[in-house]
Amino acid sequence: MKRIGVLTSGGDAPGMNPAIRAVVRTAIGLSIEVYGIRKGYRGLYENDVFQMTSRSVSGIIDLGGTILKSIRFKDFHDKKVREKAYENLRGNRIEALAVIGGDGSARAAELLYSEFNFPVVLIPASIDNDLYGTDSTIGFDTAVNTAVDAIDRIRDTATSHERTFIVEVMGREHGNLALEVGLACGAEIILIPEIGIDWNKILEELESQKIQGKTSSLIVLAEGAGKAHEVAKRLQEKLPEKEIRVSVLGYIQRGGKPTSFTRNLATKFGLEAARMLYNGKHGCMVGSKDGKIVHVPLKEVISNKKAPPLENLEIVKLMDI
Ligand code: F6P
Repeated sequence: MKRIGVLTSGGDAPGMNPAIRAVVRTAIGLSIEVYGIRKGYRGLYENDVFQMTSRSVSGIIDLGGTILKSIRFKDFHDKKVREKAYENLRGNRIEALAVIGGDGSARAAELLYSEFNFPVVLIPASIDNDLYGTDSTIGFDTAVNTAVDAIDRIRDTATSHERTFIVEVMGREHGNLALEVGLACGAEIILIPEIGIDWNKILEELESQKIQGKTSSLIVLAEGAGKAHEVAKRLQEKLPEKEIRVSVLGYIQRGGKPTSFTRNLATKFGLEAARMLYNGKHGCMVGSKDGKIVHVPLKEVISNKKAPPLENLEIVKLMDI
């Protein structure tokens, strides 16, 4: 193995840069050249490739976003586009690829591997933590901390004004982010797409809080379960006496300095991925299970759904007294 490529693809996530740094420095340490591909799979298609050195990744371990840029390149669904991308890999004498990305990037990587038998390893990076086969994806811990930090501030004003807040967090069609954030910020109610919205249950919950003497409430809503403004409007109609306010956290969850947990996870995944490519272990995702590094076939990753930590809902209820 003389030369590998590295790219970041899909929604960016804090920690992508430490992962790039680890892939580059591990490969160089193994006397393998590394070529960066800008803007994900589109860069592969457009041959937007450049050689990276150990200096190319200096000073990025604490940097949010990705120095390689990223894009959701839907055209990669087109076989012709994939063929062109494969040609460019060959044209640059790139013998294997480290892909840093989430669900969509995993599907594209699996296609490169199964259609062209091209050596690929996926490094899971997404704030949604929705990839099967790994306990954590790069960026999730940072996004959780960013959201919790914001909600702690909202809690202050909710308490001061005795209001009910509905805070919408990201997560696509998954509730992982809302479940982790909701537990960490002491939310009274967490609404996730995997369960849906049970209005009677919400009203019961809020009623029992009133009886407990609680004057403010926090409802953490996963974007996949509903839009905060619509949920607030409906709740206000049912509870006209309450002051209900909304906060949609949005893209702050995608940025910011990666936490140490995120940096170390990214570094360990990047190191392992470069070694896997070097040792001929391809067509896999590098992941973590109970703190241990694991290799999961890409086919398995894309054909299974990750179970959300529903136990967090039980814990939230037990804490709500
Ligand atoms: O997958 C990460 C994520 O931030 C999701 O949580 C969110 O639904 C989506 O990306 C937003 O997509 P875009 O960046 O294309 O607006």
